[in-house]
Amino acid sequence: MKSVTVFAPATVANVACGFDIFGFAVHEPGDVAKVTLCDKPVVEITSITGDGGKLPKSAAKNTAGFAAIRYLETIQSDRGVAIELHKKMPLSSGLGSSAASAIAVLVAINTLFGNRLTKHELLGIALQAEKLACGSAHADNVAPALFGGFVLIHPSDSGLTFKENELPDIVDLPVPTALHCTIIHPQVEVRTADARNVLSPNVPLKHAVRQWANTAGLVAGLFRSDFALISRSLNDYVIEPQRARLIPHFYKMKQAAIESGALGCSISGSGPSVFALSQSAFEAQKIGQAMQIVLSDHGIANQVYISKINTVGPQIIAREG
Ligand code: HSE
Repeated sequence: MKSVTVFAPATVANVACGFDIFGFAVHEPGDVAKVTLCDKPVVEITSITGDGGKLPKSAAKNTAGFAAIRYLETIQSDRGVAIELHKKMPLSSGLGSSAASAIAVLVAINTLFGNRLTKHELLGIALQAEKLACGSAHADNVAPALFGGFVLIHPSDSGLTFKENELPDIVDLPVPTALHCTIIHPQVEVRTADARNVLSPNVPLKHAVRQWANTAGLVAGLFRSDFALISRSLNDYVIEPQRARLIPHFYKMKQAAIESGALGCSISGSGPSVFALSQSAFEAQKIGQAMQIVLSDHGIANQVYISKINTVGPQIIAREG
């Protein structure tokens, strides 16, 4: 039978100052999906590995399965697919786990059907799947997982949650080649829906002013490879103070990262993972070790990932038939 296997990357959403509007992809971790074409017009999830039995195998309830169903409906296919999903990153980790699974399946299925849909059309389906996974159709994980790189999500005028046929612009930002990312994942779970529920709908004006200066500063810093400006812009006055308490020893990890040379350090997506950016692989390793000492000293199991920004995005890793 004809099948395609795709790797889709983990993503760091928000990037400190850009809640729901910035995200970048990393090289590891990421999820792998093998999608096989079937004659029966159904979507079946035949196996899931690496999830500890936590994810639903019913296609309609699973983010990746749901994305496949919506894809087949969109192209009005009379054929179906079987999905093998290999979770290679922790669930509810702040690394865009549901986005990576949905994108891996969508890219695989689109390849099987001769790329009938554009990337932007896939984005629309992925946003619906994201809404199923965490109750909100934010694009800052699915967009970098799909397009790769460091992206700005520029929303339509109607707000930050997207309706069908009302997709945001995905603006690819330049990435200085020296930029490295360190991620530490403390082994606790924070559900995105819960981390969104703790947020106040109001932002004091003085915080808003600093925050929008930082979003503009980060974009300008990336364009100019100005690491000092990038560093000054990697500060979150709005979201981080409200979510830090969900993450064990967040401020100690942040201090350890900054003292080890990080340009900035904040929560990855909705947490509990924490990311730091730096200017070399050496610094990225040093930052990882320093953050790891904080968690290990408190007996919290953790995993560190070091990566440059992944400008490629999803990759086909095997084809059969
Ligand atoms: N922007 C989203 C949030 C990302 O912070 O809730 C979730 O991964």
